[in-house]
Amino acid sequence: MDYEGQELHKDQFGEDFKWGISTAAFQTEGSCAADGKGPSVWDVFSARKGKIRNGHHANTACDFYNCYQKDIALIRRLNIPNFRFSVSWPRVLPSGVKTVNQKGIDFYNKVIDHCLENDIEPWLTLYHWDLPQALELKGGWTNRDIVSWFADYTELCARNYGDRVKHWMVLNEPMVFTGAGYFLGLHAPGRAGLSNFLPAIHHAVLSMGEGGRILKKLIPDAEVGTTFSCSYIEPFSQKPKDIAAATRADALLNRLFIEPVLGMGYPVSDVPVLKSLHKYHRPGDEEKMKFDFDFIGLQNYTREIVKYSLFTPYLHARLVKAEKRNVPLTSMRWEVYPPAMYHILKKFNDYPGIKKIYITENGAAFPDQLQDGKVEDSERLKYLQDHIAQVLKAKSEGCKVDGYFIWTLTDNFEWAEGYDPRFGIIYVDFSTQKRVIKSSGKWYARFLAG
Ligand code: GAL
Repeated sequence: MDYEGQELHKDQFGEDFKWGISTAAFQTEGSCAADGKGPSVWDVFSARKGKIRNGHHANTACDFYNCYQKDIALIRRLNIPNFRFSVSWPRVLPSGVKTVNQKGIDFYNKVIDHCLENDIEPWLTLYHWDLPQALELKGGWTNRDIVSWFADYTELCARNYGDRVKHWMVLNEPMVFTGAGYFLGLHAPGRAGLSNFLPAIHHAVLSMGEGGRILKKLIPDAEVGTTFSCSYIEPFSQKPKDIAAATRADALLNRLFIEPVLGMGYPVSDVPVLKSLHKYHRPGDEEKMKFDFDFIGLQNYTREIVKYSLFTPYLHARLVKAEKRNVPLTSMRWEVYPPAMYHILKKFNDYPGIKKIYITENGAAFPDQLQDGKVEDSERLKYLQDHIAQVLKAKSEGCKVDGYFIWTLTDNFEWAEGYDPRFGIIYVDFSTQKRVIKSSGKWYARFLAG
């Protein structure tokens, strides 16, 4: 059944469906060196000339470090029952290992307590890309020692927050931080090439399993998951070459991290260059790569059209840019294509090993304008409604999707794109830190009020 264009009611999703909002530490907190915090790869990368559009940086961002009470009050005002945020690893462990920064630990204690006092369930992501720079200097994700560094960091968080946090996500989008950070050099730490990408992949997979095991052992009553970026992929034409190219792109972008976790290994038959991953394997790794997560977080924004390309190394496939396809676009120049959400849900639902799916991010950036104290973001509102309708369609057909989180609460630092793309359902004036709830936020509040 199609729900697009119909008025949605939260009752249609059932009482147990988790509605939420997602954020990340580096994009919102600011206070980049306050109270003993160490630098992250993103602090260092943003300070490098030409890396971030318009020379923006996240030294202050949304000042969530100081404004967390105000922002949690807004979450409550919007009737949002679940708040997903991340811990900044270098805030709690300034050099990545050993010496704990108590003020950093306390900050997240305050955030968690404040959520609970406001009847908001905290959902914690351990790693949303802000690796301690001290660890990057030792090789970062390319150094196998990261598996034990990450294990120690996980244990620290579990011991400090596990009594109150019952929903955990180990990694945020490993494909993006390894692909953009260690293969293309477009994100921190800005490294490129296969010799960085392949070990980073393998160590991220091992860390994901290890992190899951530690959380489950130390907090047995917690629900433990991890999140993946995923885009619905279609071939440019029905020519066999384009179809095969789309299969390869799908294996790289959508299957690379979920399949080893499920015990299926890496998708080497579709992406032969991944065979070289074996160089980084040690005996016993196959077992360590697996972990039976309670849920998988899917983060979908768009679809991609893929074409055969002789000139793209390794993959021989390229994305056909949305702006060349005469389709509706967001400020990120991503196609607005709500059925992508439905197809992605169906695709992941088909893996027998996945027990539960939450959409842990979905949202859009548009050029919002503050006018007469209001932000009428009708495009975002429609985007959200249309995507939620696709979630309902998948759910009504039996997909085990049990939650949906909007990306994101406030406009924030959009990585290499700086502050221009505004994804929030709350507008931020970055010169005053004033917040204005957009029409989309008001709608979400009404929808959640039931
Ligand atoms: C995701 C990421 C978020 C956010 C969003 C919009 O890939 O997890 O941090 O930036 O995309 O681009």
